[in-house]
Amino acid sequence: MRVSAPAKINLHLRVGRPTPDGFHPLLSWMATVGLFDTLSFQAIEGSAGDTAEVSLACDDPAVPCDGSNLVVRAAEAVLREAGRADTRLAVSLAKRIPMGAGLGGGSSDAAATVRAVARLLGLDWPPEKLARIAAILGSDVAFFLHGPSSQCTGRGEVVVPIARPKPTSAVLILPAIHMATPAVYRQFDRMGLGSDAALHRLPDWAAWAALGAEALAGELVNDLEAPAFALSADLRDLHGRAARVLRRTVRMSGSGSSLFALYDAAGDADDAAARVGRDLGLQALPVALCPPQG
Ligand code: C5P
Repeated sequence: MRVSAPAKINLHLRVGRPTPDGFHPLLSWMATVGLFDTLSFQAIEGSAGDTAEVSLACDDPAVPCDGSNLVVRAAEAVLREAGRADTRLAVSLAKRIPMGAGLGGGSSDAAATVRAVARLLGLDWPPEKLARIAAILGSDVAFFLHGPSSQCTGRGEVVVPIARPKPTSAVLILPAIHMATPAVYRQFDRMGLGSDAALHRLPDWAAWAALGAEALAGELVNDLEAPAFALSADLRDLHGRAARVLRRTVRMSGSGSSLFALYDAAGDADDAAARVGRDLGLQALPVALCPPQG
């Protein structure tokens, strides 16, 4: 069984003060984008008494394939919950979504794995059960069970689908900078940032979804930009230069380091990506917003 797992961007991300468990309450508008990892799954029925075992192979040597990988943890969680200790799984992952970029690649792979393994084993689980497993794996995993355009609250795991944005396209700017999410949140706390008031004032999503690219970009905020830019002066500098080159609002996705700008037409995103490549020497990809599952 082959499935594809899309990346996401946080169009809008407000962050509150941390709760006693150290996590931060969020209000985010997340959207899938047309950049995909691909996963293949093969179930190998073992003899009775075999222990459940998941093996993962990846075409990117930088990706750990041991039990620390969310794909392995997701597959093991489904096998455990299903009581299928006699089933072994071979998974292969073609990695296209950069890591440490705030694009949710690991979370999307995990959600695709939960869904695929449940289907492979013929488990007829209700969506709430899949969502519960997803939420344990990571804050962003549940979003990918829904997509393509959702409001995410709680730690990120409380997902409500909302209207998709009118802009059809984005340019993703991918600096060669790895941002560690926990470090960005720690810096957020050190800077004393976070307003719970911002979490309780819900935007009028339907009105925002009807806006063209430039008007919508003017509404969008990412509260993790300040701490990410405080940790990486290079990222701050690139953000400023990208906005000048594109003459557009440029936002960061998640905890970085990817940056994006929105466009109403795919051709404009193509031109923007070419300009970022030429003028800034950075990797930039034109992508569809909320694409059909590839
Ligand atoms: O849930 P996930 O494993 O993706 O979170 C990674 C890290 O990001 C957490 O360990 C925590 O430090 C931080 N985080 C947070 N508040 C959130 C989501 C993540 O502080 N809502």
